Amino acid sequence: MDITNRTVLIVGGTSGIGLGLARRFVAAGSTVIVGGRNTRTIIGLETVQIDVTDADSVLRARDEVLALHPELDVLVTMSGVLLMEDLRDPDHFAAAETTINVNLLGTIRTVDAFTPHFVRRGAGDIITVSSGIGFLPFPLMPTYGASKAGVHAYTEALRAQLAGAGVTVTELIPPAVATAGQEKVNPAALPLDGFLDEVIDLITENPTPNEIVVDAARRLRWAERDGTYAGLLEARSRSLETLPGR
Ligand SMILES: NC(=O)c1ccc[n+]([C@@H]2O[C@H](COP(=O)([O-])OP(=O)(O)OC[C@H]3O[C@@H](n4cnc5c(N)ncnc54)[C@H](OP(=O)(O)O)[C@@H]3O)[C@@H](O)[C@H]2O)c1
Repeated sequence: MDITNRTVLIVGGTSGIGLGLARRFVAAGSTVIVGGRNTRTIIGLETVQIDVTDADSVLRARDEVLALHPELDVLVTMSGVLLMEDLRDPDHFAAAETTINVNLLGTIRTVDAFTPHFVRRGAGDIITVSSGIGFLPFPLMPTYGASKAGVHAYTEALRAQLAGAGVTVTELIPPAVATAGQEKVNPAALPLDGFLDEVIDLITENPTPNEIVVDAARRLRWAERDGTYAGLLEARSRSLETLPGR
């Protein structure tokens, strides 16, 4: 994928990985718009207000971006929340609902809003964002893993449905990255800059692979195939000891 002369919308680009990726695209020569609910703190980038849980907001943002940038040719659906849940406490359901609404339905709403534009153009790139946790659960974040497994399956189907339309569909599968609070609780989380270096190397391959899997994500992505799934899941289940009352 060429990243030097594109017009890119990163929904969920107002912080963390999305904001870092936005700056990489800009540094390479592309025009970037970042979207999210909290756009006020963004300096030096064009922004659009968007709440992916609200269908009207998504359509408004789509119309605003396409009015200014009818040449839009890259969409990244980065919006996500990373919530912990104790499944023995029924109150977890609120977190489950939010997680599915933002991570999975938010991805679907955003892709739906822009698919006609991309199909009309007959060209462009859609990049969805799942997680290593979608392939190897992290039991402290059950619905998060379910939402990202859903994003993976949806992305595969989207790619199949857009085949022949000139639109490529790529799934970014990050491992733990030192953003969104991970930097405080997970010493193994990758520094953002190193992660983005690897992402840019992979994404600029020609043709771009269907999945962007940096080195640290491979053991999660391929655990089932590699026969390491049960052992890794057991090790990751030890995190449950941090829940109150365990
Ligand atoms: N960090 C990791 O370890 C890791 C690992 C695997 C996958 N990922 C995935 O990577 C993506 C980015 O995560 P991050 O670590 O960079 O987290 P982050 O810094 O918290 O960024 C999350 C982004 O999602 C946006 N967002 C949240 N709720 C939204 C809503 N209702 N409508 C629109 N935008 C919304 C936020 O923008 P506003 O707050 O401005 O709305 C923000 O731009 C997520 O999909 C996450 O699941 C992260």
